[in-house]
Amino acid sequence: TTAPLVDPFQRAISYLRVSVTDRCDFRCVYCMSEHMTFLPKRDLLSLEELDRLCSAFVRLGVRRLRLTGGEPLVRRDVMTLIRSLGRHLETGALDELTLTTNGSQLARYAGDLAAAGVRRVNVSIDTLDPDKFKAVTRWGDLAQVKAGVDAALAAGLDVKINAVALRGLNEDEIPAMIDWAHARGMDLSLIETMPLGDIEGDRTDQYLPLSLVRARLAQRWTLNDIPYRTGGPARYVSVAETGGRIGFITPMTHNFCESCNRVRVTCTGTLYMCLGQDDAADLRAPLRESDSDARLEDAIRDAIARKPKGHDFVIDRRNAKPAVARHMSTTGG
Ligand code: GTP
Ligand code: 5AD
Ligand code: SF4
Repeated sequence: TTAPLVDPFQRAISYLRVSVTDRCDFRCVYCMSEHMTFLPKRDLLSLEELDRLCSAFVRLGVRRLRLTGGEPLVRRDVMTLIRSLGRHLETGALDELTLTTNGSQLARYAGDLAAAGVRRVNVSIDTLDPDKFKAVTRWGDLAQVKAGVDAALAAGLDVKINAVALRGLNEDEIPAMIDWAHARGMDLSLIETMPLGDIEGDRTDQYLPLSLVRARLAQRWTLNDIPYRTGGPARYVSVAETGGRIGFITPMTHNFCESCNRVRVTCTGTLYMCLGQDDAADLRAPLRESDSDARLEDAIRDAIARKPKGHDFVIDRRNAKPAVARHMSTTGG
């Protein structure tokens, strides 16, 4: 009875990103305002409701599930949810259960994550300079995050480092970060900053096109395009000299929406069909109003039937307003 989810542009939806909390223990300058306010806890879906929601998507054909936030590991008892979702790996219904994390709690959770069936995690590190790290995250401690990365590697997890390319902030450091990651067997993905939500700074000052970064890296190293894909929007190159991979996530300079395979659910049960568009569907009501999942599945199908073609992000001085008002931490990356 369960036809797979296909959108109006013939894209199959096989990847769900779930923000389990909008809270974060960092305040990255490109992501949040210093005075970010969070949702009252009573608005959040319970862990049981999140489980039901994810499981409905798995029944409808989702093969990859990524927990995000905010910071997913600051949600109380999040391991209960992760362990429970791990059952879909055991039955073969799910190919991958993973997380995008700032790493602050990873030293504590790495072993449990591996035991629950998580095979890899993406850890956000924008700079390896402790003072700059403090400046970018406002609240973060680089040593703690590095300890988290070490714990994840020791637990046998594959770790990918995510770095937002920021003009004047980490652009000189990118080769050193690549050396650091590749020396530890980790891929590194570079990300163009996206105009989501109001922040203190001017995104025009922060924005660094990855086409430029790539050209600079190509002067230092031999970069080869490779077909390797992880299910996300990154395009990868291998670096002959280091033997490692670099991912490029280019929402600004090279739109990848044509091959989009994903949707997002927030911690309040709002389904966003596109990171860069406002249209959304409420899944909390169908979740709460009936113990049967029929209404929930109908609501999901109805929403996928109107998934937009893509985002239309612009960063320029004459157009200072963010493309969408909500922050990345609300939609969940
Ligand atoms: P894998 O490929 O599975 O490793 O994941 P990923 O790179 O897609 O996920 P991750 O959470 O590490 O996200 C890295 C960056 O890519 C974040 O800044 C995301 O917001 C961005 N990103 C992921 N998916 C999309 C998307 O569909 N559209 C846009 N514009 N950005 C995305
Ligand atoms: N643009 C691009 N990436 C962002 N992230 C957070 N906010 C933004 C933004 N406005 C990144 C984080 C993390 C990932 C989930 O999203 O650094 O790596
Ligand atoms: Fe937190 Fe991630 Fe946003 Fe930084 S980018 S403030 S770590 S949600």
